[in-house]
Amino acid sequence: MKKILFKGGSIVTAKGIRRADVLVSGDKIVTVGRVMGVDAKTLNVSGKLIFPGFIDAHTHFDLEVSDTVTADRFDSGSASALAGGVTTVVDFATQNKGETLSDALNNWHMKAFANSSCDYAFHMAISDWREDVKAELPAMFEQGVTSFKVYMIYDAMELCDREIYEIMTELKKYGGIVGCHCENSGIIGKLREEALACGETAPSAHPKTRPDYTEAEAVRRFTTIAKAADAPCIIVHLSTAQGYEEVRRARENGVKVYAETCPQYLLLDDSVYSKPFDTAAGYVCSPPLRKSADKKALWEALKRGRLDTVSTDHCSFTIEQKRAGKGDFTRIPNGMPGVETRAILMYTYGVKKHRISLSRMCAYLSENPARLYGMYPRKGIIKAGSDADLVIFDPKGSGTISAKTDHSACGYNPYEGVRVSGKIEKVFLRGRLVYSGGEVVLPHSGRYIPRGKYNL
Ligand code: URP
Ligand code: ZN
Ligand code: ZN
Repeated sequence: MKKILFKGGSIVTAKGIRRADVLVSGDKIVTVGRVMGVDAKTLNVSGKLIFPGFIDAHTHFDLEVSDTVTADRFDSGSASALAGGVTTVVDFATQNKGETLSDALNNWHMKAFANSSCDYAFHMAISDWREDVKAELPAMFEQGVTSFKVYMIYDAMELCDREIYEIMTELKKYGGIVGCHCENSGIIGKLREEALACGETAPSAHPKTRPDYTEAEAVRRFTTIAKAADAPCIIVHLSTAQGYEEVRRARENGVKVYAETCPQYLLLDDSVYSKPFDTAAGYVCSPPLRKSADKKALWEALKRGRLDTVSTDHCSFTIEQKRAGKGDFTRIPNGMPGVETRAILMYTYGVKKHRISLSRMCAYLSENPARLYGMYPRKGIIKAGSDADLVIFDPKGSGTISAKTDHSACGYNPYEGVRVSGKIEKVFLRGRLVYSGGEVVLPHSGRYIPRGKYNL
């Protein structure tokens, strides 16, 4: 079996940092500690940090939505992931109305198989809750799909409170968990109609018609349903201070609520929507970018360890695709890229600005998503027996974010020109060098990772 010895690096885990060698044999880590006298290819990584491969538990690759399909399919999306140190994505297999869950899962397997350069797993987004769909749940668990997503908004996806309650009670039987896109569709739908009727057609109407209280109300409703069902739940892409207050309140009321936020809600704000269309449209995502006070509240929550994961909601469209909404902001496909820049942004604006420690960064980007989504300890930690998914990170490196050097197919970067600290030098996936010198060097070697039950 081919062996690699990573000599002299600093190993980052959610519990701390320590100097140790890492011996890899085949696709697994076999020793973490002082390793001497083994017959192995040796890589000197002194001065470098070694993170467990990052996990992005919120991507949408090859998603058909808004009469188009995301710019990143699994080939470019996963290349972008590796460049961001992400060795595993949990993408949203999405059931279209009329389909079975098996249809959706097979569909996503076909999209990813032989195209993905990073490992991948699937959540299942349920859009059509029926008796026959309920009967499919055991088969989903047998195939390693143990987390689900429901939407409180979007015509094609929206479920009502009763359906969400039923899904939660049903999933509880199998140890599954459900995440929710929390926005109040009734209020937002009406505000959008009113804005258009007043001639407000530009992207600046997007945040105005999705005010913070529409997220907070939906978080409160979703966590109330979870309380009624006595089931755990996840708030995905939490974006507001008010929404976070509802998470806190629900926890005080005994609800097991996990919460995810994304770099865009920590670093960007709604001032971008008043820029010219082609720039503003690139930032149109839902929930929208918010205010400085919201960013502050989310950073504070991260600092205190009150959020659980930082993922990206990578859902990319080219500016050409975004132009479908020129003259009607409601037609702009929602979403933006992020999988490539998450780690470097969290290092630059989190660790270097002393908002979070390296260990906490590791918890948010690796260990917690691995635990929450049933992949721990195979993924999310550097430990004997774990997959040898390793990010060799130079803390002294630096760079400038630019679409010119990105691996995404969307052609723009929301953080264009931003100076960043640190550098992802090399990425190993199950013991094989897959990314080095800014390039994916072993494409399409990703594998499907069937998952177990949540454990965070
Ligand atoms: O605008 C976004 N976030 N699009 C992706 C789908 C979703 O709601 O997560
Ligand atoms: Zn969503
Ligand atoms: Zn999403």
